Amino acid sequence: MAFHLFKKSTEPRPIFAALGTDMHCHLIPQVDDGSKCIEESIDCLRTLQAVGYKKVFVTPHFCSRFPNEEDDIKQRYEQLCQAADAAGITIEMAGIAGEYRVDSIFRARLDSPRFFQVAGKYVLIELSLHQQMMDADDLIFDMQTRGYDLILAHPERYPYLNIDGPRIEQFLNQGILLQVNILSLGGFYGEEARRRAFAIIERGWVSFLGSDTHNTLYCQALRDLSRSRKIEKLLEKHQFMNNTL
Ligand SMILES: [Fe+2]
Repeated sequence: MAFHLFKKSTEPRPIFAALGTDMHCHLIPQVDDGSKCIEESIDCLRTLQAVGYKKVFVTPHFCSRFPNEEDDIKQRYEQLCQAADAAGITIEMAGIAGEYRVDSIFRARLDSPRFFQVAGKYVLIELSLHQQMMDADDLIFDMQTRGYDLILAHPERYPYLNIDGPRIEQFLNQGILLQVNILSLGGFYGEEARRRAFAIIERGWVSFLGSDTHNTLYCQALRDLSRSRKIEKLLEKHQFMNNTL
């Protein structure tokens, strides 16, 4: 019986090799709302490897909810790298960056600026997912006047950020690069985020795609998405800057 010939494959495919580098994920264990333990981080790295990534920057949250101490982050990252090595993970652990929420402690950080940057070049920032912060634009401007190049994480996920309005174009005109979450394209964050993600990519506004992997739930969605012909075509059609990192 050749029934198995017709069974749909559930194996991940390495379609994200076209990007090469994942520049947004939360795989340092126990520092934020990402991975809860080393074992979960290793499972997630296995998934990133299986869907084609060659290199990864880990980007723990820095915000009022997760202030995070730099020495603690570094120590846990070293432990993760050693565990990944011992587990036979071949993906390159390219370093620590941060995902910096533009909030009250962000302003305090500006006065003694120390930022973990993506590839030593970019500061990954995020806005509130719920409401527009009144002085966010001032803080962003202050960062830029200090010479930082900024990447705005997942613009498709801010319900108050009208993708047809002037603010997002203002970000682009200010030289802020945009990063869409890959899982938004599969509807992981809902239909509206999915629609907005595709729309801004089609407009050519998006410089980076990030997995924003937090845990194994995200990994399952990433594996599912890796079998999508539509996503494969999108990666063929659009150029992103991930592989420059
Ligand atoms: Fe994130």
